[in-house]
Amino acid sequence: PAQRTQPPARATAPPRRMRGPPGARSDAPSIPHAVTPATAPAVVRVDLGARSYPISIGAGVLDDLASYAGHVGKRALIVTNDVVGPLYLERVTAALKSAGVAVDSVTLPDGEAHKDLATLNLIFDAALAGRHGRDTTLVALGGGVVGDMAGFAAAAYQRGVPFVQVPTTLMAAVDSSVGGKTGVNHPAGKNMIGAFHQPNAVICDVAALDTLPDRELASGLSEVVKYGLIRDAPLFDWLEAGGAAAILARDRAALTHAIRESCVNKAAVVAADEREGGVRATLNLGHTFGHAVETAQGYGTFLHGEAVSVGTAMAADLSCRLGWIDAGVRDRAVGLLRACRLPVTVPSGMTPTQFRDLMAVDKKVQDGVVRLVLLKGPLGGCVVTGDYDPAALDATLGAFCGRE
Ligand code: NAD
Ligand code: GLY
Repeated sequence: PAQRTQPPARATAPPRRMRGPPGARSDAPSIPHAVTPATAPAVVRVDLGARSYPISIGAGVLDDLASYAGHVGKRALIVTNDVVGPLYLERVTAALKSAGVAVDSVTLPDGEAHKDLATLNLIFDAALAGRHGRDTTLVALGGGVVGDMAGFAAAAYQRGVPFVQVPTTLMAAVDSSVGGKTGVNHPAGKNMIGAFHQPNAVICDVAALDTLPDRELASGLSEVVKYGLIRDAPLFDWLEAGGAAAILARDRAALTHAIRESCVNKAAVVAADEREGGVRATLNLGHTFGHAVETAQGYGTFLHGEAVSVGTAMAADLSCRLGWIDAGVRDRAVGLLRACRLPVTVPSGMTPTQFRDLMAVDKKVQDGVVRLVLLKGPLGGCVVTGDYDPAALDATLGAFCGRE
């Protein structure tokens, strides 16, 4: 894994590109100019023996032939969606073609609501229509939804073909493009159908985040806060001391630092426990509560990172009720999430019973016990356990659902 790097100085740069209100789609972003990487990209390595791969992070890497060299064979099928495609498909196609790769593409409908088996089939339809074989590399161009679906398609198509991740959201850059978890949702539960399938490479163009709406940028920050809470107190301190504000202001040095440090954390956890037999489950802080929120509200209503933020606030509350962290750590966690412009309260109408029912459909359930990632000890410590006082969970659910 890469060496830890120095945080950039406190950011004072003005916002690069201001957007409209969170989630607004009407102010469609203009197509950014292609840029050549000014400096060599930072590279974080995921150490998995023969299946190790690089994560290249830098401005302009999307256009850089060297990023793809050696990771894509003679043919590629780019998987994107109808928001990201118009922005970046032409550039990725051009980069691959100039590297001598024959390129096809398939464009999926945008959004979490389409992360399902029916949409997945569109990738197989395109692959078969183009007579793609096992020598084809799928290239996932988009956020976590496209990445998870293209990765799952790569795991299943002709029993497995290689794939490359080109993340274009902060969420995908700091989390979903790394580690090989792929899949789709089921109406009864988030990410319930999928496979572990590692990419050959991750090519993360920080400049591509310029077109990301503010609300999506904030959503990705929830996973950066997660690394701080579960294992990297200095990263949390940096976010709190101005890093988060600089990211929200689109300071590129701050963004690059957060992505690189998040990837260093994720690469270390994945290298230690690729298939989530142990420590990898800690990456699910807030996710058991959060997935319940996402499923209950209808996929896409709450963004994934927003739901994780609510879930993280609930996990911090429960950890505090159990006496595992002090109120100061809980308050810092909730305070930083708020500062990231993320929600920390449960949507109205959700009940403790609804949470319990949905939380029972979780991949961490063992012998009928819902295991949770909870904070423990000083900032940066956590456990994965089903051994907690159920009355404390009742109290947290009651408090967040307005019953206390
Ligand atoms: P997303 O993929 O839906 O992207 C968010 C929105 O931004 C979409 O509308 C998308 O089209 C748009 N977009 C993407 N890049 C853009 C750009 N550069 N400019 C403008 N618009 C752009 O959502 P996400 O937050 O990236 O990912 C969420 C998904 O990732 C969830 O399904 C979640 O379960 C999954 N996830 C998976 C893992 C994993 O380990 N596999 C980890 C975290 C999250
Ligand atoms: N996002 C959680 C994991 O990759 O394990």
